[in-house]
Amino acid sequence: MLNEDDLPKSIFHLYTGKSSKINWGPGNFEVEKNIGDGHFGTIFKVREKDSKFICALKMMFKYKTEKEELESEIYIQSKLDHPNIIRLYGYFQNYEKVILILEYIDGENLYKLRELKESNTFSNIITIGYVVQILKGVKYCHDNNVCHGDLKLENCIVDKDKILKICDFGHSFLISEGIRKIEVGTKIHFAPEIIKESKISLEIDMWTVGIMTYEILVGYHPFKNFPSTKQFSVRILKNEPKYPESINKDAKDFMSKTLIKEPSKRLTVREAISHIWLKKEINEKINEKINEKMKIL
Ligand SMILES: Nc1ncnc2c1ncn2[C@@H]1O[C@H](COP(=O)(O)OP(=O)(O)O)[C@@H](O)[C@H]1O
Ligand SMILES: [Mg+2]
Repeated sequence: MLNEDDLPKSIFHLYTGKSSKINWGPGNFEVEKNIGDGHFGTIFKVREKDSKFICALKMMFKYKTEKEELESEIYIQSKLDHPNIIRLYGYFQNYEKVILILEYIDGENLYKLRELKESNTFSNIITIGYVVQILKGVKYCHDNNVCHGDLKLENCIVDKDKILKICDFGHSFLISEGIRKIEVGTKIHFAPEIIKESKISLEIDMWTVGIMTYEILVGYHPFKNFPSTKQFSVRILKNEPKYPESINKDAKDFMSKTLIKEPSKRLTVREAISHIWLKKEINEKINEKINEKMKIL
């Protein structure tokens, strides 16, 4: 299984001020609460006993997780350092589990946050705030040849100040490695090229950016009501999403350009970040604020 010598060294000592030679283990942590039962294991909010440093432990059972997924989660995430990505500080393991030491976020994932809204949606401006942060995290990944591979609302954690961080790199892969496997991520978020079993690359993340944007702005999945997997696959390949009249026209343009079936025609993350939908309203808000200030002067 995971060979300690091959994997990146822990950087957790930088946060706790303890010796870098320490072998972290469960005895170093006090559990504060259970913060989530993920697909492969459980996530706890914990406190490192001596330094009182708060972090999260993600426990993953080896028998439930593909070796490849565990390794990419550790190898790839440990190299990423960006304000919109959960930091991986280190890991330890025993014969049955691998335990990741992660940055703790006092917040909720976007899926649960959306469920708390009566309309099941966020306003145009709040959606812009979240989409911009997702794109900043994705751009950093793509600039470093990393494809996240499983972007979805559940894998975006938002804190009390609405700062969003992308988590869960279990399906991530380096594009320099070429096509790693045909099926990546969560079925209902599969991009057309995954269904067609053709070559997959960074563009799959941009498809899921489009799906997530639609889900939080319109309130449901753009290819909703799929009774069987086959019908669902056909819808993804053939149907075009419908955009309600009430949706901002620039947002509609953004979604229709990320939900393009042909990966090479889809917006890249760089193009998406400079899309007018994300610029216009923010500029208008800034202008409003300036105008308010001018009135006082
Ligand atoms: N570092 C963290 N801080 C706070 N909450 C977290 C953290 N990591 C995960 N969570 C919560 O736990 C859930 C599952 O975590 P995730 O890493 O996606 O597990 P899985 O690989 O099982 O999907 C997330 O949707 C989020 O709500
Ligand atoms: Mg997850």
